[in-house]
Amino acid sequence: MKDRKAIVKVPASTANLGPGFDTLGMALSLYAWIEMSESKTGETTFEYYGDGMDGLPKDKSNLLYKVAQLVFNEAGVEVPELHIAMYSDIPLARGLGSSASAIVGALVAANALIGSPLSDDKLFQLATELEGHPDNVGASLFGGIVVSAWDGSAAQHVRIEPNERLQTLVAIPAFHLETEKARHALPSGIAMADAVFNVGRSSLLVAALASGELGLIRHAMQDRLHQPYRAALIPGMAEILERAVDFGALGAALSGAGPTLIAFVDANSPDKATLEQFLKGTLAKEGIEAETLWLAPCTSGPVVTVEEGPIGGGAGSTVSITLLDRIKGEVKA
Ligand code: HSE
Repeated sequence: MKDRKAIVKVPASTANLGPGFDTLGMALSLYAWIEMSESKTGETTFEYYGDGMDGLPKDKSNLLYKVAQLVFNEAGVEVPELHIAMYSDIPLARGLGSSASAIVGALVAANALIGSPLSDDKLFQLATELEGHPDNVGASLFGGIVVSAWDGSAAQHVRIEPNERLQTLVAIPAFHLETEKARHALPSGIAMADAVFNVGRSSLLVAALASGELGLIRHAMQDRLHQPYRAALIPGMAEILERAVDFGALGAALSGAGPTLIAFVDANSPDKATLEQFLKGTLAKEGIEAETLWLAPCTSGPVVTVEEGPIGGGAGSTVSITLLDRIKGEVKA
């Protein structure tokens, strides 16, 4: 890996899609970039770019560093010190899978750095174990819509190609909501009737997404396992989930553990501006400032570039090209 540099572009994701709690995920066209190389200084160093990234640890307690070490240990490779850079357009703690993207990006970058000895399925198992559920990591790793199940030791998945008419509108509240807090809001048990309700909706949703029957999404994107319990944490959410279809959405859900709300929309819908206004207006009524973004499903997983040798800003080059210089034009910064 001497003089090798791996640069990985990894998508954000939305999890649950309403009824598929800890099971369904979809990759979105919003990205983070992770660059990894052997350190030239003999010490592990970090560079972060992007909103809210300043507070992340710059020592070996760093998640990206720990994930990389896990890959090297699994592959039986000893790696000295690393240089790790990250830029992200994925807002932190908003329900768009920022931690899953970081985990997947670091796994893929570290694996690429040592010649990719670990399979994608192995990376999926490691990512699921690290994240504690497979929905976000599966989507970021495989792209498209991913249906998965994890029994605590092994995860299985099937990828579905998103229908080309499927688009999403996300409303991202300005406040953070840690997943742990949103998981604590959930009860320890649920009624049989609610379980049956969700099995039906989740199965119908997978079938509708796989067959392109987008008209069924409004019936399928309903949930009784987590959204009702999380609604109190996100003022305006209940109204948005109930009424988004009246404003032209195919369906609406809490994105992951929130606080972002996501509407599925037919790309040809004439009601997009009205729907966007409804989402923003409903949150504003509750005093919540929110950014709205139109995002397409991202149909591929991480895009990896490996550079070898001391040329053009590659590892070991005397010309220093920062990660931000490299991706300028593709990112918000
Ligand atoms: N399935 C997870 C949850 C996604 O809803 O808690 C957020 O990490």
